[in-house]
Amino acid sequence: MKTDKIYVGDSLELLKKLPDNSIDCVVTSPPYYNVRDYGVAGQIGLENHPNNYVNKIVEVMKECKRVIKETGTIFLNLGDSYFGDEIKSKDLWIKDKQKLLTHYRIAIKCQEELGLILRNDIHWIKQVVNFKTRESFGSSVPCPVKDRLGLNSEIIFFFTKNKSYYFNLDAIRMPYKESTKKRVNFHRKYTPDSPYKGQFLSMKINPLGKNPGDCIIFPLERAKERHIAMFPSIIPEFCISCGCPKNGIVLDPFMGSGTTALVAKRMNRQFIGFELNSKYASLANKRLLERDK
Ligand SMILES: C[S@@+](CC[C@H](N)C(=O)[O-])C[C@H]1O[C@@H](n2cnc3c(N)ncnc32)[C@H](O)[C@@H]1O
Repeated sequence: MKTDKIYVGDSLELLKKLPDNSIDCVVTSPPYYNVRDYGVAGQIGLENHPNNYVNKIVEVMKECKRVIKETGTIFLNLGDSYFGDEIKSKDLWIKDKQKLLTHYRIAIKCQEELGLILRNDIHWIKQVVNFKTRESFGSSVPCPVKDRLGLNSEIIFFFTKNKSYYFNLDAIRMPYKESTKKRVNFHRKYTPDSPYKGQFLSMKINPLGKNPGDCIIFPLERAKERHIAMFPSIIPEFCISCGCPKNGIVLDPFMGSGTTALVAKRMNRQFIGFELNSKYASLANKRLLERDK
């Protein structure tokens, strides 16, 4: 399969055509369960039972594990959904108003059945509030629901195939707060009641900045493209920066409007994309052509 191309078809079938150990980094956002209709037969996300959806995504992840290099990384963005009345099941957890936790069910199966190593469940915060000061940061869609809290975050699961893998933390470091700089740049003796009493605590700040941590605001972006579920380009930028070496190959098996491809090219990486809906694949190719003009 050639790089820098988007292939139209089912992600699982196309993944099976990729050789073992050939991809550096997977960055993808598959359809969520029972949330959107992408208007194409064979799409993932409209299964009768959430378990069927979970198993489908796990099958895709099994192939992703096979195709990534021994040092490869996988960033899987997934949101959750609530029980919909149309599902008929005797399962106790399939009940009205239930938050289904499909994304964590998938992550657990990836650990237990595929042997993937979950390194982080990164919280993509869309809006966060300080309840004490009543301040809000970031943006969110107004929530009409009155008997629970709105959903202002999604998860980006960061998986690896092996214990050692490519990870460039320096590429995503953040500036320290001034208050932290003052606090940590000296030797401090542990207090007598500390288990480390008598020892010196040496916390030096890294000149390149701090580890960003696993709660990150990735601001939503206004897009003129006609795709109903694009992620902001800062998400693939973050994942590629730390998870894919220069000139490496990024795979997105649910390419949609081509956001991952555009970012990969901008960052001097190669890409391979799969997309079932040919209209979205054309849109992605159009965006790539406009970029090259
Ligand atoms: C959440 S969107 C991805 C959006 C993308 N990250 C972007 O920024 O445009 C999921 C995409 O998966 C596609 N899709 C659904 N089922 C698929 C399947 N079985 N194989 C390949 N693509 C599929 C949908 O058409 C949709 O474009």
